[in-house]
Amino acid sequence: MWLLSAILGAAMLLSCSGERTRVKTEESRGADQTGSAAIEFAPPSPETIPGSQLGERIRLGYQIVVNTQEYAKPYVGNRLNCTNCHLDGGLNPNAASFVGLAAVYPEYRTRNARVNTLADRVNECFERSLNGRALPPDSSKLQAVVAYITWLSRGVPSGATLPWRGLQFIDSRRPLDPANGKNVFVNKCAFCHGSDGLGTMAAPPVWGPQSYTIAAGMARVSVAAAFIKSNMPRARGWSLSDDDAYDVAAYINAQPRPDFPGKANDWPKGGKPSDAPY
Ligand code: HEC
Ligand code: HEC
Repeated sequence: MWLLSAILGAAMLLSCSGERTRVKTEESRGADQTGSAAIEFAPPSPETIPGSQLGERIRLGYQIVVNTQEYAKPYVGNRLNCTNCHLDGGLNPNAASFVGLAAVYPEYRTRNARVNTLADRVNECFERSLNGRALPPDSSKLQAVVAYITWLSRGVPSGATLPWRGLQFIDSRRPLDPANGKNVFVNKCAFCHGSDGLGTMAAPPVWGPQSYTIAAGMARVSVAAAFIKSNMPRARGWSLSDDDAYDVAAYINAQPRPDFPGKANDWPKGGKPSDAPY
């Protein structure tokens, strides 16, 4: 079950191959303001996990991230695990990696117009991406996830700018084409995610009642397009043009998915997703 060493090798290989420019996401803006020098993507190796109670917490945090369904069941309202989006247990530098994050939180976020701790941000994904509920601040599971991310941030100086942070955003250079989006889905995604988008044994759902909510980061077309362009289809040798990534992101995000009543309170108040500052 402890796959980190294999994963670490893959993540390090990946980190050397990114060529596209990484445009700042909302998440990375705060870190950018510190003006500190960029640093290398160098997650610690599993041997550095202490053999203490802290080590147990770090391992539990890893389990929660890769098997959220089993290890944090009462807090999850859909069929997703953290690692379905934060690929390779948060070690993939092209998929909103967890590496280094403990060095940039607490951080001000425009979405809720306040300073968020790392635990707040983890809970936001529990609520919005997993359609679940926030873990209590003193819960051992929340502390375990924070301990895992803190371990993955070893050696990263506080306030550092993380060049791999977030997703590699791409530009949409023409109006979205819904018919093309559907076509891309049928030809390049349905094979794993199901022609009804509800997921299969091979891949999680991308819409429907078991998917992320309308208030998740992935529910924004620009965010989904960036994730999809860098990481999907998850099959060797397959890739998408930027236009196809945008069209298919718009297509899946136009399908039904769980509501999120609190979304109306997002900043700017009552704004549409497209008004948000990223
Ligand atoms: C070869 C199988 C495969 C193909 C083809 C594929 N995916 Fe995925 N996709 C996956 C797997 C597996 C995951 C979860 C990754 C993990 O847990 O490591 C995933 C995760 C995702 C996610 C994030 C998790 C979720 O379910 O919301 C999105 C969004 C997504 N894929 C969209 C797409 C789109 C759009 C396409 C077509 C362009 C596509 N995928 C093609 C296998 C595939
Ligand atoms: C449906 C996909 C999805 C799932 C599932 C998901 N997340 Fe996220 N998460 C995202 C996206 C998208 C972002 C924002 C990335 C960006 O804008 O740069 C994000 C951001 C984050 C961040 C902040 C990253 C940063 O750079 O500041 C943390 C921490 C986080 N998620 C933790 C988790 C944890 C822990 C889980 C499981 C309990 C989880 N997420 C499940 C999609 C997901």
